[in-house]
Amino acid sequence: MRLKKLGSFGAETSDFDAPFQEIWGAFFASQVLVFRNLRLAPEAYLAFARKFGRAEPHVIDQFHYPGHPDILILSNVQKDGKPIGLADAGTYFHTDYSYLDVPARCTLLYSRQVPSKGGDTLFADQYAAYDDLSRQTKNLIENLVALHHYGNRDDLDKNSRTVASVLSEQQEGKMNWVKHKVARKHPITGRTALYAVSGSSFGIEGMPEDEARGLLDELKRHATQPKYQISLKYGVGDVVIWDNASLLHSATLTDPNDPRTLWRITIKEERRPS
Ligand SMILES: [Fe+2]
Repeated sequence: MRLKKLGSFGAETSDFDAPFQEIWGAFFASQVLVFRNLRLAPEAYLAFARKFGRAEPHVIDQFHYPGHPDILILSNVQKDGKPIGLADAGTYFHTDYSYLDVPARCTLLYSRQVPSKGGDTLFADQYAAYDDLSRQTKNLIENLVALHHYGNRDDLDKNSRTVASVLSEQQEGKMNWVKHKVARKHPITGRTALYAVSGSSFGIEGMPEDEARGLLDELKRHATQPKYQISLKYGVGDVVIWDNASLLHSATLTDPNDPRTLWRITIKEERRPS
């Protein structure tokens, strides 16, 4: 299939109908893959997404697409005074479902309405961020296990636009502490990447809290440097899919009165072998 590079990683293609094995290979090699200007019914979009694995509905169930709970509507649009989707989702560096025991393999966004200004998604390459660490730091973090929970460790203010999307009490009740290695082997490619050092990581197993936060903050500063980032601009009909095990990503804030709508599907990694 023909691919056009987006930057140091990431690619776009118009070959949506290429054999799936080629798409799969191109996706894990590129980390971000963009298909431009598609027209897909929800069923066709779901069928494509499910080729990558098992979809799992987001805990925020009030904005599931009616009849298709695997699609989460992200939108700042209001209808009859009520939001039609989740607004300001993920406007800080994080990786999807890292607060779950079995996290997300990939996330797909299908762009339905594009704001006149902004709305790009930023991606940061966590393979490169890991590779560039000193030997000493690699040794230090080799066996460290981070403690994760739903939330943005840098912003817990529920009135802020960069807090993790606020959960109802019942949704909060479904969330637990989970563990993931800080330097994590990618389940498909086998390469090591820094994993979720920004976002849901609040501590490190067996390390005093201050020390753990200090180390995570230092790794975050390193891993989100502009040199590891690309910025993706959306057109109407674009489908983007990204690799959650090798990237951090962040939405960017847009004008709340500038309409934008995306449909999100999140695909899980395989369950851990017991
Ligand atoms: Fe996200």
